[in-house]
Amino acid sequence: MKLSKQDILKALETITVPGEGQNMVESGSVTNVVTFGDEVIVDITIKNPSLQARKKTEVEILQAIHKHVYEKAKIKVNVKVDAPEKPQANTIKGKPIPGIQNIVAVASGKGGVGKSTVTANIAIMLAKMGFKVGVLDADIYGPSMPIMFDVEMEKPLSVTVDGKSKMKPVENYGVKILSIGFFTKPDQAVIWRGPMAAKALNQMIFDAAWGELDFLLLDLPPGTGDIHLSIMQSLPITGAVVVSTPQNVALADAKKGVAMFQQDSINVPVLGIIENMAYFTPEELPNNKYYIFGKEGAKHLAEDLDVPLLGEIPLVQSIREAGDVGRPAAMQVATPTEKAFEKLTQNVVQEVVNRNENLPETEAIKITTMAGCSAVNKK
Ligand SMILES: Nc1ncnc2c1ncn2[C@@H]1O[C@H](COP(=O)(O)OP(=O)(O)OP(=O)(O)O)[C@@H](O)[C@H]1O
Ligand SMILES: [Mg+2]
Repeated sequence: MKLSKQDILKALETITVPGEGQNMVESGSVTNVVTFGDEVIVDITIKNPSLQARKKTEVEILQAIHKHVYEKAKIKVNVKVDAPEKPQANTIKGKPIPGIQNIVAVASGKGGVGKSTVTANIAIMLAKMGFKVGVLDADIYGPSMPIMFDVEMEKPLSVTVDGKSKMKPVENYGVKILSIGFFTKPDQAVIWRGPMAAKALNQMIFDAAWGELDFLLLDLPPGTGDIHLSIMQSLPITGAVVVSTPQNVALADAKKGVAMFQQDSINVPVLGIIENMAYFTPEELPNNKYYIFGKEGAKHLAEDLDVPLLGEIPLVQSIREAGDVGRPAAMQVATPTEKAFEKLTQNVVQEVVNRNENLPETEAIKITTMAGCSAVNKK
């Protein structure tokens, strides 16, 4: 059997490298193909430095050649990783929001899966670990941070920084908070169009005295709408986490959420997926786990999309109660809930560290509208 280079390239065209959009031949990932008889050597260069990504691509190549060309082909794949250069220490200075080291967006496709609950608890855990933390409630349609942190009655004060008047975030449990909820009446529905919402958010980001922060968490509204685009336009987001519950309907939406961040034009690194309400545990029987919404759905989705599964948070009555009374469950020391949030938060921090070591800073994106069509460019 004599294999042809042409056939091999055709087979490789059926493979898409995650995050790179086109097939691997088109994207230039395949740098060389050599065949002799039934042997083939494929040289490829990929951007994703993770071992998992390398293995996955290798397996896909073997499968594609065996399936489309010759099932007994002997294949060797040489993988070269071409990760973008690490940012130099001195490039950090030019950050658009001075003093804020990492911005982590918490998103979901579907509503009500527990983004705000997870955001509040990660914030508490980060503060407990000694980090300086802020939360920006970017859910301008249904702000929940004021209730979750028991600060509904508070109003941000105005302070003067470098001669400019700025909003001082409200603080509780060691976490700084800004939310549109501070500026509207509790029962007043906020129905804004994208641009107005974006303006309000911009003010809470740039006209606020956040001070030094290790992490600014963004609690996003559900979905993948124009508010998300506005936020990514204004902010260099370090990474995004996507929350899902185990049901198929939520997972399908979570997949869309991940895809939104990974689009070429947006390109915000996805730090991982969080499975919330992963199983039900009665408070009095903490070892009993009931997988009422299905088991390990998020784990499979994470494997599928080649992103880490950051944690599994159980469905526990006290998490809901804690949220309602404004004392996030992660504050209850030595409970299984605290443990679950602690592990999750450690994983988030680890992924932020990995991301900062391996990828350059995220740039805010600029949207330009030209004659009715919109193009998305890097600034
Ligand atoms: N692990 C959990 N165990 C028990 N209750 C939970 C859990 N996670 C969230 N909840 C409850 O589910 C409800 C919805 O959660 P939350 O408001 O955090 O979701 P969300 O994704 O932010 O919703 P939205 O899309 O409306 O912003 C709240 O009442 C919350 O207390
Ligand atoms: Mg919410």
